Amino acid sequence: MTDIALTQAVREQIEIPLLPGMASGKPAEQIARRRSLRTVGLFAGIGGIELGLERAGHQCLQLCEIDRSAQAVLRERVICNPRLNRGADDIEIVSDVRELAASAAIPVNTELLAAGFPCTDLSQAGKTAGFDGAQSGLIWSVLELLGKREVPWLLIENVPNMLRLGRGQGFRLLLQRLEALGYRWAYRVVDSRAFDLPQRRQRVLLVASKDGDPKDVLFADDAGHFGGEPWGWSGETACGFYWTEGVRGLGWAVDAVPTLKGGSTVGVPSPPAIILPGGALVTPSIEDAERLQGFRKGWTLPAEQVAKRGFRWRLVGNAVSVPVARWVGSRLARPGVATQTCVREVGLTEPLPDAAWSEGGAMLTAAISRWPKRPSQPRPLADFLTDAGQPLSHRAAAGFYKRATERSKLKFPAGFLEVVRRHVEATAAG
Ligand SMILES: C[S@@+](CC[C@H](N)C(=O)[O-])C[C@H]1O[C@@H](n2cnc3c(N)ncnc32)[C@H](O)[C@@H]1O
Repeated sequence: MTDIALTQAVREQIEIPLLPGMASGKPAEQIARRRSLRTVGLFAGIGGIELGLERAGHQCLQLCEIDRSAQAVLRERVICNPRLNRGADDIEIVSDVRELAASAAIPVNTELLAAGFPCTDLSQAGKTAGFDGAQSGLIWSVLELLGKREVPWLLIENVPNMLRLGRGQGFRLLLQRLEALGYRWAYRVVDSRAFDLPQRRQRVLLVASKDGDPKDVLFADDAGHFGGEPWGWSGETACGFYWTEGVRGLGWAVDAVPTLKGGSTVGVPSPPAIILPGGALVTPSIEDAERLQGFRKGWTLPAEQVAKRGFRWRLVGNAVSVPVARWVGSRLARPGVATQTCVREVGLTEPLPDAAWSEGGAMLTAAISRWPKRPSQPRPLADFLTDAGQPLSHRAAAGFYKRATERSKLKFPAGFLEVVRRHVEATAAG
C-alpha cells in the first residue's frame, strides 16, 4: 500500500478521539489545526507508543526494534491492522537503531520520530551507567539520525530517574544537543493513573520541535495534583507491592499495582503481588498486566512464537501505557494552549524539576502536576482485574516475609505483614 493510500485509510477509518477538555473553550483556529503526522517508531517494543499515536490519528511509516519476540508482536498487532487495511509488508521493521542512524534510512516524509529508548542504565533497578551505558546510550543514535535527517517533531519517553541520575547531567546534555540541532523542547512527568489505569507508573515525556511549541502539547492539560501516595491501608481496597523487594523498598501502591517492570531485583521479569479485599494474596495474569498498560488481552501472545511465556512480562513492563501515548498524540494532532507561566529559571547545578521547557537558551520550571487528566471513572483495582490471578507461591511469599521481618528497617502498613504471614501458613502444605 502506498503512503497516499495509507493516509486515506487512516483518515477514513480512524476516528480522531477528542479527550475531555479538548473540545471546549478553544479558539476556532486551534480546532482547525488538528493534523495527522507521519511517524517512525524507534525502540518500538510491543508498540505502546505506536498504538496510542495511531489511535490519535497519526500514521506509522516505519518501525525499529531489535528483539525478535517484540518484532513478532509488532508484525501481528501493529502492522497487520485490519482496521487500517494493512498487511504484513506495509510497514518495514528495521532491527538495529545504530544501523538506521548510520544510513539515515527513514522515510523522507517523516514528521515525528518516537523513541521510548531502553531504561536499563537509567532506572533505579538497573545498572545506572546512565546515558553512557550500552543500552540507554542508544539515545545518541537518535541524535545522530536527527543530525542527518530533518524531522520536525520528536517524542522521547523514559523513567523519571534519568532526571536525577548524576544530578541530571546526562539528561541536560541530551537537551543541549537537541537545542544545538535547532529544537525547542518541553518535558513532563506523567502518571498512568490519570488515564484510568490502576497502575502507579510515572514516566518522563519529552517533546521537541522545530515546527511548533512543545509546551502546547505537554502543558495544555492539567487536572492538578490528584490522589496522594497513601501509606495507610484499611484492607477493604486492594493493594500492590513487589514480593521481590521488602528490604529497602516495597513498591507499595494502594488500589493500584506498582509500576510494571521489564526486570526485577531477582533478575527475571516478575509480576507484582496484589492483596485483594478479603486477604487473598495473588499475582495478576499476564493478560490483566496487558490491560494495566492499556493493551487488549492477549496483545503479546505472538511473542510466544519465539520466546517463553514468561518473557511477555518483560515486554509488557517495558512498554509505554497506550492511553498516555494516545493523550500526547491527541495533543500533537491538535495542540492546546499552555497556561504555564515561568516559575523560575533552573540553575545549571540545580536538581531537575518534574516539568520544564526551553526558552531563549534557558530552562524554565513548569508548575504542573503529573496528572494531565482526572480519571474519568475511578475504578477500584479489584474491579479492574478480570482474572482471579495466581496465588503467590509459598516460596515467594515465605522469602518476602523472611526478608521483611528479619532484614528490613521498613515500617510496613498496619495489618499488611499479618496478611502475608497467613498466606505463608496457608500455602505451606501445598
Ligand atoms: C523501553 S523499551 C520500548 C518499549 C516500547 N516503547 C513499547 O511501548 O513497547 C526499549 C526497546 O528498545 C529495544 N532495543 C534495544 N536495543 C535496540 C537497538 N539497538 N535497536 C533497536 N531497538 C533496540 C528493546 O528491545 C526494547 O524493546
